[in-house]
Amino acid sequence: MYYNEYLNLKSDLEKGYKTAKDYEKSLQKLINKIIVDIQKRNIEGDVQKVISIIDNVKTIEVPLEIKKRFDNILLNESEIAERKTILKSKARVLYCVVTTLCNVKCIMCRIIKNQWELPEHAIDEIVELMPYLETVKWQGGEVFLYKRFEELMDHAGRNNVCQEIVTNGLLLNENIITKLVKYNVDLYISVEGITKEIYESVRIGGKFETLINNLNILKRIRSEFFGNFTNLGLNVLVMKKNIEQIEFFPEFAREYGFTKLCVNAFGPDFISDENIFHYNKNIEFERKITDIKGKLAAKCKNFGIELFDCLPCFNSESECITVSDNVVSNGANETKNSQIENISENRLLCHIPWQKIFIDSDGTINPECFCDRNKSAGNIDRDKLPDVWNGKVMQEYRKVISDNSYHSRCAKNCITGITHSKSLKNIINPNLFWWSNNL
Ligand SMILES: C[S@@+](CC[C@H](N)C(=O)[O-])C[C@H]1O[C@@H](n2cnc3c(N)ncnc32)[C@H](O)[C@@H]1O
Ligand code: SF4
Ligand code: SF4
Repeated sequence: MYYNEYLNLKSDLEKGYKTAKDYEKSLQKLINKIIVDIQKRNIEGDVQKVISIIDNVKTIEVPLEIKKRFDNILLNESEIAERKTILKSKARVLYCVVTTLCNVKCIMCRIIKNQWELPEHAIDEIVELMPYLETVKWQGGEVFLYKRFEELMDHAGRNNVCQEIVTNGLLLNENIITKLVKYNVDLYISVEGITKEIYESVRIGGKFETLINNLNILKRIRSEFFGNFTNLGLNVLVMKKNIEQIEFFPEFAREYGFTKLCVNAFGPDFISDENIFHYNKNIEFERKITDIKGKLAAKCKNFGIELFDCLPCFNSESECITVSDNVVSNGANETKNSQIENISENRLLCHIPWQKIFIDSDGTINPECFCDRNKSAGNIDRDKLPDVWNGKVMQEYRKVISDNSYHSRCAKNCITGITHSKSLKNIINPNLFWWSNNL
């Protein structure tokens, strides 16, 4: 199996059929293939296969800089397969709010109402975790206002962890942008208006000229950087103020080199006139949204931009599901049936409690944002990450998911399939070439 493939590669290197660089590239591809395969088998519930692949590959010699991570992945996948509730493996994904401080006051934002920042002790714990992490998602407030953020970003960068940052983009500068590009950070910039008037009426205190200036610097530095893999996403929250501009966001995204466009709607709990999806609905409105969705899909396909369309669907179900190839629909119905079928004996509803730590904007820790906030797994202000990782609540999630008794513990949306099964299981970044910069 994979071990033989590895031996062949080594033999090609020893006989001089492959250069050291080619060998490392092939090994990288092989390791990626192995990890993707193991994860897929675990999602399918093929426990025996998971164990046999891990047995087969555990003596492969991987480069030193990924050894801890590779070993942790194998250990973690075997612990999922064995339904362990106390884990020897460490978290593979971290979502972390670092501060609620912000440089602007957006009309829709609730995060900034609570003043909080990541305590110092957490930094040491996160740094300890870095060699094992595959992905870290940083969020604020504005992450660049957190005094030790650059340090955290440097640690992640040096450890070749995939990083993702959501930002308003107004505090970017040459120095930060160079680092973001060097570390291949996936950057998501939130913009609600493509004109000064609309932008500044939502992002109160933000200057449209500053945004455009920073987007131009970003575009220049990305174009200068050889081997740049940075994903640049444009986040848009659709509201009453900007509804007429939404169809033109693909042009804006193309102009500044965005590779993704994420179009989002408010949830029903956001009570405001701006929340047109829940408080101003009528047939005219539904037609308008349907028309916008079509235009966005067509333009993004044409421009080669990946579209994440999270606007509600007012069409018939089938039309909603048949979206173009490069479009991801959040149509809940798409998931429901397949997910219910999928929960056969061996498949787990969710892998998140085995793989992820989510630190929210008030310090509460959970496996994920969908989990019960009233019964959290801990709080970073008083708890240590390693203690929370194998604490009572994390163990409880692992146990109820393992024995399918999650109904009283897990969120309704997860159980009924409204939350996409991919969000519950495929949480690992499939682009595992963390050490590709070094080649
Ligand atoms: C809270 S912000 C933090 C990151 C950064 N300051 C920014 O604006 O991108 C993260 C995302 O949440 C979105 N957001 C803010 N308020 C929201 C709300 N009430 N409902 C849904 N999304 C919201 C923002 O537009 C942004 O894309
Ligand atoms: S920039 Fe982000 S964190 Fe700041 S107020 Fe706006 S949405 Fe909230
Ligand atoms: S199923 Fe949902 S509520 Fe349960 S652990 Fe997974 S993310 Fe949390």
